[in-house]
Amino acid sequence: MTPSFEEPRFARIYRAPGRVNLIGEHTDYNDGFVMPAAIDLFTYAAIRPRDDRALFIPSENFSESVEFDLNQPDPRARGHWSDYVCGVAVMLERVGYKLRGADLTIRSDVPIGAGLSSSAAIEVAAGFALLDNSSFEIDRVELATLCQKAENEFVGMRCGIMDQFISCNAQAGTALMLDCRSLDFNLLSLPEDVRLVICNTMVKHELGSSEYNTRRAECEAGVRYFATLLPNIRALRDVSIEDLDRFGAGLNEVVYKRCRHVITENARVAEAASALEQNDLTRFGELMAESHRSLRDDYEVSCAELNIMVDLAASVEGVHGARMTGGGFGGSTINLVKTERVPEFKQIVATGYQEATGISPEILVCAAAAGATRI
Ligand code: GLA
Repeated sequence: MTPSFEEPRFARIYRAPGRVNLIGEHTDYNDGFVMPAAIDLFTYAAIRPRDDRALFIPSENFSESVEFDLNQPDPRARGHWSDYVCGVAVMLERVGYKLRGADLTIRSDVPIGAGLSSSAAIEVAAGFALLDNSSFEIDRVELATLCQKAENEFVGMRCGIMDQFISCNAQAGTALMLDCRSLDFNLLSLPEDVRLVICNTMVKHELGSSEYNTRRAECEAGVRYFATLLPNIRALRDVSIEDLDRFGAGLNEVVYKRCRHVITENARVAEAASALEQNDLTRFGELMAESHRSLRDDYEVSCAELNIMVDLAASVEGVHGARMTGGGFGGSTINLVKTERVPEFKQIVATGYQEATGISPEILVCAAAAGATRI
């Protein structure tokens, strides 16, 4: 019998959350700083051991199943949702976790393609379940790293560490400021009277993943340039705004703008963390607005729909801050909204967005959730 969520007696059930990023966008793969929070929308994995070394993976969302042989010598991605699960199994095995076979049913409440890291949530839920099913201790930092590796090397998407890390390590009621180089992190309490309101533009522009890789290459070009002029430059994280002012004229305009975004964004994350510690949501919101402008004008990963959504939100009373969240080119905005103002916010933004674009948005009111766990 397939393990199902309706019959928990026959399976162990795990869940891993999706995420929003409050600030620090496109900094993770530059060894920089990010400040995501997990949201209370989850991917679930129900697992039961098998006697062989097969994975049988039904998805409740797609009403289909996939089989995967853990003994196969050269496993390859199939361009399918199950790659996230199989890729994690492959990476776990590669570092020496010999996994038991399992029936592993997946169900996800994280909207797909909305920029809320549904892929990290499935990777982490599956990885957690597979490790526990084989009686291995879970090291959350290692699990995050291996899930990222699965996405980089098996699925073929060059994402940074942010999404998998927050899905593994989040704590309820907090945002997590992560140093993506050392993987040291700080939990920052979010005010209790604020909700994380996500506005899904319902668009996902095709260019997303190719432009993502282009941005990475532009950042690498920036690093190569600064490394010829300054000692100890390994990533844009090591370049200061003074360095950019002093030497930036030697860069082409596009690379200059990409570097300016990353360097200023890292500084904004540090300032946003102090603002949050001092409960200064006004300053925090200003930094979110600056981050959005920088992503729109310098990094050029926003789009008309995201800009409309952010502009609409900024005009609503009770909104501390609004910006695009995630990779960009569609997906969602994150809005910090006073709890009592949420109904009005939803109404104004939904109507305004529908009028401006003809598209009915999805608005999700979330709280900051805990990371992956058995339930
Ligand atoms: C995607 C990637 C992350 C990060 C963001 C941009 O969500 O998966 O690693 O790079 O884009 O901040």
